[in-house]
Amino acid sequence: MISRAMDQGRTLRLMTAMHRLSGGALTAGLRSMAVTSGKGGVGKTNVVANLAFLLGEMGNRVLVLDADMGLANIDVLLGITPRYTLRDFLEGRCTIEEVLVQGPGGMSILPAGSGVVELTHLQPDQRLSLLNEINALGSKYDLLLIDTAAGVSPNVVHFNALAEEIIVLVTPEPTSLTDAYALIKVMFTRHRRRRFFVLINEARNEEEGRQVFCGLNGVVERFLHFSLMELGCLPKDPCVPRAVKSQRPFVEEYPHCRAAQKLREVAQRIRNLPARRGGEGEYAFFSPYA
Ligand SMILES: Nc1ncnc2c1ncn2[C@@H]1O[C@H](COP(=O)(O)OP(=O)(O)O)[C@@H](O)[C@H]1O
Ligand SMILES: [Mg+2]
Repeated sequence: MISRAMDQGRTLRLMTAMHRLSGGALTAGLRSMAVTSGKGGVGKTNVVANLAFLLGEMGNRVLVLDADMGLANIDVLLGITPRYTLRDFLEGRCTIEEVLVQGPGGMSILPAGSGVVELTHLQPDQRLSLLNEINALGSKYDLLLIDTAAGVSPNVVHFNALAEEIIVLVTPEPTSLTDAYALIKVMFTRHRRRRFFVLINEARNEEEGRQVFCGLNGVVERFLHFSLMELGCLPKDPCVPRAVKSQRPFVEEYPHCRAAQKLREVAQRIRNLPARRGGEGEYAFFSPYA
C-alpha cells in the first residue's frame, strides 16, 4: 500500500518535471494569461468575460478557464447554464470536451461550478490531469484566459504559476493594494515571477489610476527590486453592474460606455504583445518590450 503510494508520488513528480523540462507549463503556442487579485470582488470575472469577448471580436480563438473553484460565476455572469462543470471532469463523470461551453462572441469556456469546497484545494494529480487536458485542447485556441480566485491559496498560486503572463487587478481601496502586494510577493518568492501587468479597476479618473499604480509599483521596487507594468485603468462605470444584471458582457451591451472604451484599449495592448521568446525564470516568457 505504502509502496504503491510512493510509486504514484514518484510518477507524479516525474511527470511534473517532464512538463517543466518541455519548456513551460502549457503548450508552446497557446498563449496564457491569468487574471488575478489579492482581494476578492475587484472585478476579475467581469474583466475576463469582457476581455475574452473583445479578443474574440478581434479574431482570436479564446478559451476561458474558470479557476475560481470555490466561487465560480463566469457562467452566471454570461447567462450560461452548463450541463457539466470542471468538478464533473475531475470526478470522472465526463470528458473535458463535454465541459466546454460556447459563450458570447465565440469564446469557449470551461466552467468550474460553485460552492465546491474540495475544489478550492485541488490535489496535485487533479491539477496535472487538468493541465494535460488543457494542453490537449490547446491547439484549437490562440489564448487561454484564466479567471483565478482571490488571495494566495495553493490553487491561486498554482494557476498563476502556470500562466505565461499575470495580470493583477487592483482597485483604489488600500486593502486591495496591500493584498495585491502580498500576492506579488508570494509569486516572486515561491516562483521567481517578476513580470506582472497591473490593471486598475473602478478608478474615479485617470489621475487616481496613475496614483494607485505608482503607489504599488513604488513598494514593489523598494522591497522586491523589480518594476511592474501598467496595463491600463478602467473607470467605475454604472454600465458594468447593469450588464451583470442582464447577464451579458458590458462591452456587448454598452459598447460605447467608458469602461468598454478603456477595456478595448487594454485588449489592443494585449493583442500587440509580441509572441513569447522564452527563457526567463521557471517558465518561458515573452517581453512586450523586446
Ligand atoms: N469598472 C466597474 N465599475 C462598476 N462596477 C464594477 C466594475 N468592475 C466590477 N464591478 C462590480 O464589482 C462586482 C464584483 O465583480 P467581479 O467581476 O465578480 O469580481 P471578482 O471576480 O474579482 O470577485 C460586480 O458586481 C461588478 O458589477
Ligand atoms: Mg470572480
